[in-house]
Amino acid sequence: MSQRKILVTSALPYANGGIHLGHLMEAIQTDIWVRLQNLRGNDCVYVCADDAHGTAIMLSAEQQGISPEQLIENVSREHQKDFADFLIHFDNFHSTHSSENKLLSEHIYNVLDKNGLINRRNITQLFDPEKKLFLADRYITGTCPKCKAENQYGDNCEACGSTYSPAELIDPRSSISGATPIEKESEHFFFALPEFRDMLSDWTRSGTLQDAVANKLREWLDTQLQEWDISRDAPYFGFEIPGAPGKYFYVWLDAPIGYMASFQNLCDRSDYEFDDYWQNDRDTELYHFIGKDIINFHTLFWPAMLTSAGYRTPTAVHVHGFLTVDGTKMSKSRGTFINARTYLDHLNPEYLRYFLAAKLSNGIDDLDLNLEDFAQRVNSDLVGKVVNIASRCAGFIGKGFDGYLAEQPDNPELLAQIQSFKDEIGDLYESREYSKAIRLIMALADKANQYINDKEPWVIAKTDKQSPELQAICSSGINAFRLLMCYLKPVLPAMTASAEQFLAIEPLRWDDLDQLLVGHKINKFKPLMTRVEADKVQAMVDATQKEFEELAQTKAESPAPAAENTTGFEDEIEFDDFAKVDLRIAEIISAEHVEGADKLLKLVLNLGPDKLGQEISRTVFSGIKSAYEPEKMLGMLTVVVANLKPRKMKFGLSEGMILAAGPGGKEIWLLEPHTGAQPGMRIT
Ligand code: 2FM
Ligand code: ZN
Repeated sequence: MSQRKILVTSALPYANGGIHLGHLMEAIQTDIWVRLQNLRGNDCVYVCADDAHGTAIMLSAEQQGISPEQLIENVSREHQKDFADFLIHFDNFHSTHSSENKLLSEHIYNVLDKNGLINRRNITQLFDPEKKLFLADRYITGTCPKCKAENQYGDNCEACGSTYSPAELIDPRSSISGATPIEKESEHFFFALPEFRDMLSDWTRSGTLQDAVANKLREWLDTQLQEWDISRDAPYFGFEIPGAPGKYFYVWLDAPIGYMASFQNLCDRSDYEFDDYWQNDRDTELYHFIGKDIINFHTLFWPAMLTSAGYRTPTAVHVHGFLTVDGTKMSKSRGTFINARTYLDHLNPEYLRYFLAAKLSNGIDDLDLNLEDFAQRVNSDLVGKVVNIASRCAGFIGKGFDGYLAEQPDNPELLAQIQSFKDEIGDLYESREYSKAIRLIMALADKANQYINDKEPWVIAKTDKQSPELQAICSSGINAFRLLMCYLKPVLPAMTASAEQFLAIEPLRWDDLDQLLVGHKINKFKPLMTRVEADKVQAMVDATQKEFEELAQTKAESPAPAAENTTGFEDEIEFDDFAKVDLRIAEIISAEHVEGADKLLKLVLNLGPDKLGQEISRTVFSGIKSAYEPEKMLGMLTVVVANLKPRKMKFGLSEGMILAAGPGGKEIWLLEPHTGAQPGMRIT
C-alpha cells in the first residue's frame, strides 16, 4: 500500500488553565492514532497549539499582574511539559498568538469579505460601565427570573435549569467589576453562514462525520443556521480586524486557523509543504480530533470558512465524548477535576494511556474513569498478563542459554495465530475502536499465558536448565510477548521502548509482526511495569481534593468584586480599606479643656493592655467639648481608631481618633459604660 500523507490535530487548549485529564483523553486518543499510522509506515504529522486569545485570558493576565503575552508564554511551557510527560508526541506545538496565525487569519478574513460574506450591523449588548467592557453571558450573574436562585450565570440557571437572556436576570451584575451592566450598541461583523447551507448539508453527510454527529447537525442545519458574530470590541486580547480599528477577531475565528498556523510554522523548518495539505485536490488527508462540545465550530463554521477561502475541508472530524471520574462530570466546584500534573506526581502516565485505550470507542458517549476499575484493569492486563509472559520466560533463557532464543520456537501455531490479527488490530486502531483492539490483544495474551501454564517451563528447569525444550517453550513465550508489545506500541510507547531494549531489537514497526525472533540474544529482564498501588491512587485523589480546598480558600479570601455603590454613600470604600482600620474600645481616663481651643477636649485613653500587660494610653484631641463636661467623661467608653498615624495639631500630638455619633452640639454620643465592653477590645 502506498504511503499516506496525513495531518492530524487535536483541539487547542485554552492558555488560561492547566491541562487536565479531559484534555488528556483527547490527546491520548489522537496520539495513539498518529503513532499507529506512523508504525504502519504512513507519514502522519500531529500539530497542536495553545488557544491564546479572548477575554478570559486578558482578565486572567490582569489578575496576575502580568501581560497576556507573558501569561500565554508561561502556560505554553507548562502545557507542553504536561503533554510530553504523558508521552504525547506533537510534531509541532504552537500558539494562536503567532505571526503565522495573524497572517492566515487576516488572509482568510479578507477573502471572506471580498466574497461578500462579512456583514456589518449594530447590535446591543450588556456592557460593564466600570471596566468599559462588553460582557459575554458568562460574565453576568444575577438572580434567576424563574426560581429566584441567586448568583446564576447570564444565560442559564444551575438551580432550576431554565434558560433566559441576560437581560431577563433580576439584579444583573458584571462578575468582573460588580457593576450593574448597561445596554450599549456597537457594530459587529458577521460571517454569512446560511449561505453555506447546501454545501454543509452535503459535506456533513458525505461520510466525514460519525452518524451521531451528522444527525445532530442535521437539526441545526434545518433550523438554526444563523449568521456568526466574528468580531469583538476592544479591549480584547487577539488580532485586530484589518481596516477596523478597535474591532478584534472573536477567539473562535482564529482558533481553528491556529491548526494551519501551527502546521505553517512546522513547514518553515522542515520539508513539509503547506499547500500539499491545505490546497484542494491534493492527495493528503486532514483529521481533527475534538470533543462533542465544539462540534459546531468544526463542522459548520470551519468547513464553510475553508471552502470560501479556497482551502480544502477536513477529511473527517473525529468526535469523542466527555471524561467522567467515578461517574461524575469533572468539575472544579466539586473537586473532581484531576490535573495532569497531580496525576503525574503519583502515577505512571502509561497506566492512563492503557486504561483509556481499553475503554475508548469511536462513539461520542462519555467515558468513565472509575478509579477502582482503573487500578484493577491495568494490574490484571498489563502486569498480570503481558509482562507476566516475559517475566516467566526471560529468566530461563538468561540462565540456561546465555540469553539466546531457540532457532525454532516450540509453538509456531500460537505465534502464527497472534500474527494473524495484524490487519484486524491495525484496522481497529484506524477506526478508533481501541477498546476492541485491546480486547483482542488481551485475548491473545491469555492464550500465550495459558500455553506457558500448560508447558510449565519451571518444572522442566528443575531437572534440566539447558533442556532444548525449555529454550523452545520460553522462546515461544518471548516471541508472543514481542508480538503483543508491537500491538500495544501505539498505546504504550515507553513500555515498548523498554521491551525493545530487553529484547535487544530495533524499534518495532508494524511490519515486524510478520517476523519472529530466532537464534537472537536478548538482554537481562528488568520489570517493565509495576502494579498500580491503591495508596498512590488515593494520594492523587487527596491531592486533588487539597487543590480544590485551596482554590476555594483563595476564592473566599478574594471574593467576587463588590457590587457597584449600593451603600448610597459617596466615597464608598472597599472592604480592604475598612479592614486596615484597627478599632478598639478605649476608656477615657482623663479629660481636660485645651487652652485657646473652642471645640477641643484633650483626652487620655486607656486602650487596654499591650502584649506585655502594660496599659496602652493615648492622648487624643477631640472636638466634643460642646457635648461634654470633661469631669463627667471619666470612665466612659468610646471606640478609637487605634492605628491612625499620630497627627501634629496646633495644641499637641493627637495619637488617634475617637468615634462618636450625633448631629453635634449637645448631642454627641459616646458609649455608655457597659459591663461587657472592656478597654482594648477589638471591634470586629
Ligand atoms: O474548547 C476549547 O478548549 C477551545 N480552546 C478549542 C479550540 S479548538 C480549535 F478550533 F482551535
Ligand atoms: Zn432558576
